[in-house]
Amino acid sequence: MDEVGIPDPEAAIRAYPFQLSGGQRQRVMIAMALALEPDILIADEPTTALDVTTQAQILTLIEDLRRKRGMAVIFITHDFGVVADIADRVIVMKKGEIVEAGPAQEVLLKPQHPYTRALIDAIPRLAQTDAPEQVERTPLLRVEGLQKTFSTGSGTLFGKRRVVKAVQDVSFELYAGETIGIVGESGSGKSTVGRCLVRLLDPDGGRVLMGDVDIAHMSGADLRAQRRKLQMIFQDPFSSLNPRARVSRILTEGLIAYGTPDKGAKARARELLELVGLDESAMKRFPHEFSGGQRQRIGIARALALEPSIIIADEAVSALDVSIQAQVLDLLAELKSRLHLSMLFITHDLRVAARICDRIIVMQKGRIVEAGPVSKVLHDPDTEYTRSLLDAIPGQDYEQALAAAD
Ligand SMILES: Nc1ncnc2c1ncn2[C@@H]1O[C@H](COP(=O)(O)OP(=O)(O)O)[C@@H](O)[C@H]1O
Ligand SMILES: [Mg+2]
Repeated sequence: MDEVGIPDPEAAIRAYPFQLSGGQRQRVMIAMALALEPDILIADEPTTALDVTTQAQILTLIEDLRRKRGMAVIFITHDFGVVADIADRVIVMKKGEIVEAGPAQEVLLKPQHPYTRALIDAIPRLAQTDAPEQVERTPLLRVEGLQKTFSTGSGTLFGKRRVVKAVQDVSFELYAGETIGIVGESGSGKSTVGRCLVRLLDPDGGRVLMGDVDIAHMSGADLRAQRRKLQMIFQDPFSSLNPRARVSRILTEGLIAYGTPDKGAKARARELLELVGLDESAMKRFPHEFSGGQRQRIGIARALALEPSIIIADEAVSALDVSIQAQVLDLLAELKSRLHLSMLFITHDLRVAARICDRIIVMQKGRIVEAGPVSKVLHDPDTEYTRSLLDAIPGQDYEQALAAAD
């Protein structure tokens, strides 16, 4: 436990996994793998679920242990930035077969196989911050002093009562036609902001103004009427789509609940499928019959069913690999301009934020610590915290090498 850098190993050894943070749990997994002093460590996406700063720490840990113990490491990942930072040699797999293998430098900078090239082209680039489109200056949504505190623990079984100030005094405006990114480490309060806005959670304080109406403390029919204008897309469409419902039901139930007759709802569902690039035959199928990218398209179609003006996407592409991620981001950008949507794009991945956002809000421990145009925040940040998030992004030397090769 000491070797993998867990603070206070004496106490940690008696802890249950859920009492540890994501990064600490990953360290325990590494300690378990090291217990038998292996010659080879196989790490399967060990940092995929972690935010960039924690990820950087785990990568450094694996590298230190490798050097100290003279182990070999097989590191399985879909993240090319991570590959560029840690690998000596790279093997690229497609559909169960190796399509390319060689020294990291060669595979990453001079890929031979079209599949490798397509993957590398799909990596969102930090430097690729397009000039924001001219947006109208009408605030569509005004968030003022939003607050949310969680109290957990009953004071019985595991003792301590825990009070988490998840969101503290968060204020911003979302203009018509713009995309705001909310970034920050895990636990910084990003999802809580999103869930308060769509009223999956009740905020403790503050106002959420759509036009002149405050939806933060609305209820009943008034809330229902406003809520349809604000729709959410989630990270994991698998758990947010009812596995026992066919796509036709998933796409029509919202419409029917808001009074659209069955037939009209079905017709609208077919329109929605076309809009997100899926075939009409999808109507009769179940969520598990689709790939991850296709399921996310269904999640997007469902969010669009009630013709919202604002989409809140919470880690909507975080579970997808880079090429599928690029397709879904392109789809979102296209839909946004076609349907005149505004978007709140919550992500822990600053590369993804760079690709799709006009402005960025950086959160830390429930508060906004920095906000501004994407090019300013990502290339000339005002705070140490934003700088540390940027520095922790893997593969930056590689990105520069790629840019130089373009
Ligand atoms: N339902 C909940 N009950 C108790 N604590 C919660 C709940 N949801 C979130 N939290 C806590 O609130 C903080 C912010 O969480 P979250 O908004 O999910 O962060 P992020 O999306 O940035 O990772 C974290 O400390 C988290 O543990
Ligand atoms: Mg979250």
